[in-house]
Amino acid sequence: MNQVIQTIKARRSIRKYTDQQISDDHLNAILEAGLYAPTAHNQQPWHFTVIQKPEVLALINKKTRDAMLNTGIEWMTRMASKEDFKVTYNAPTLIVVSGKKDAMAMEADCSAAIQNMLVAAESLDIGSVWLGLVRLVFQDEEVKNALNIPEDYKPYYSVSFGHKAQDKALPAPRRNRDVIQFIR
Ligand SMILES: Cc1cc2nc3c(=O)[nH]c(=O)nc-3n(C[C@H](O)[C@H](O)[C@H](O)COP(=O)(O)O)c2cc1C
Repeated sequence: MNQVIQTIKARRSIRKYTDQQISDDHLNAILEAGLYAPTAHNQQPWHFTVIQKPEVLALINKKTRDAMLNTGIEWMTRMASKEDFKVTYNAPTLIVVSGKKDAMAMEADCSAAIQNMLVAAESLDIGSVWLGLVRLVFQDEEVKNALNIPEDYKPYYSVSFGHKAQDKALPAPRRNRDVIQFIR
């Protein structure tokens, strides 16, 4: 099978990481892949905050856990109640992707960048997982101060990256195939 398609299909959300930091070469290759995503009107309306500082990762983990426990949403409180729960799964690198507030299609553009980064990471055998739960704390004052995102950008989603702490490839969740219609 074509190598790119093979990599796309092999990528899985990874939720167990080793302590080893990813190399700057790998990090830069992943960021570069993000920058090569398509964007509406070629606006490239994104900003990437690379977090590798343990104190900031710990702050995000703690605040997100507290926020999840306070939502009153059963699956979130159950998830956050687990003693070892960390929203970033202890990955040593977290990238927050923010979009320019006045961009034409910031959500689509940022999502395209994220997907490029996930696939690039898999091609380098780096594990990753797209994180929505971190959004719960993007408006928290302490987190805002720690992230220092430029005023004209809004944090959108974040992604954990690190070395996979599991030997075998995870099986892919079953994909629905009855969602494709041909008109030809
Ligand atoms: C917008 C979005 C938000 C997500 N948020 C989380 C999250 O907060 N935590 C998590 O463990 N996985 C999260 N995921 C990963 C999905 O759970 C995962 O992609 C899905 O279960 C399919 O598995 P796969 O990525 O291995 O194919 C998110 C994925 C997307 C696209």
